[in-house]
Amino acid sequence: MEGGWSFGLVAETDEGVAGYLIAREAAGTGEILNLAVAPEARRGGIAWRLLQAGLATLATRRVEEVFLEVRASNLAAQALYRRAGFRPVGQRAAYYRSPREDALVLRREVTAG
Ligand SMILES: CC(C)(COP(=O)(O)OP(=O)(O)OC[C@H]1O[C@@H](n2cnc3c(N)ncnc32)[C@H](O)[C@@H]1OP(=O)(O)O)[C@@H](O)C(=O)NCCC(=O)NCCS
Repeated sequence: MEGGWSFGLVAETDEGVAGYLIAREAAGTGEILNLAVAPEARRGGIAWRLLQAGLATLATRRVEEVFLEVRASNLAAQALYRRAGFRPVGQRAAYYRSPREDALVLRREVTAG
């Protein structure tokens, strides 16, 4: 993306890579593109820490708001994002394939420091 930048964060345990987050920024707006934790490593706070680190990284780059899309059926991710302060602001019909499904668009404000 012109003028923008993206980054990835990786979470490691003694067993190896346990999760990752990919995000980008353009014109003061951040986007969480992907966040995943290995099934055997879930519910241990790894996604939470990746998300907080990702938001902190975006905040250092003058990002004021962050958006992301999540499958309407993905209640685990929605619970995580809600707890992290994201709120629904829209819906994209049939955004996902295999299976075809709506996306919820979530947004959170970011404040530096
Ligand atoms: C969603 C996902 C990233 C969560 O990873 P995780 O490391 O297990 O999440 P954490 O342990 O950091 O959870 C933090 C909080 O989020 C919420 N949460 C996470 N998973 C949840 C679940 N299955 N059900 C309900 N709440 C959940 C809880 O509030 C949790 O806190 P708690 O464990 O103290 O109750 C993981 O389930 C995953 O990789 N899923 C598949 C990929 C995916 O859906 N990515 C998001 C796409 S937008």
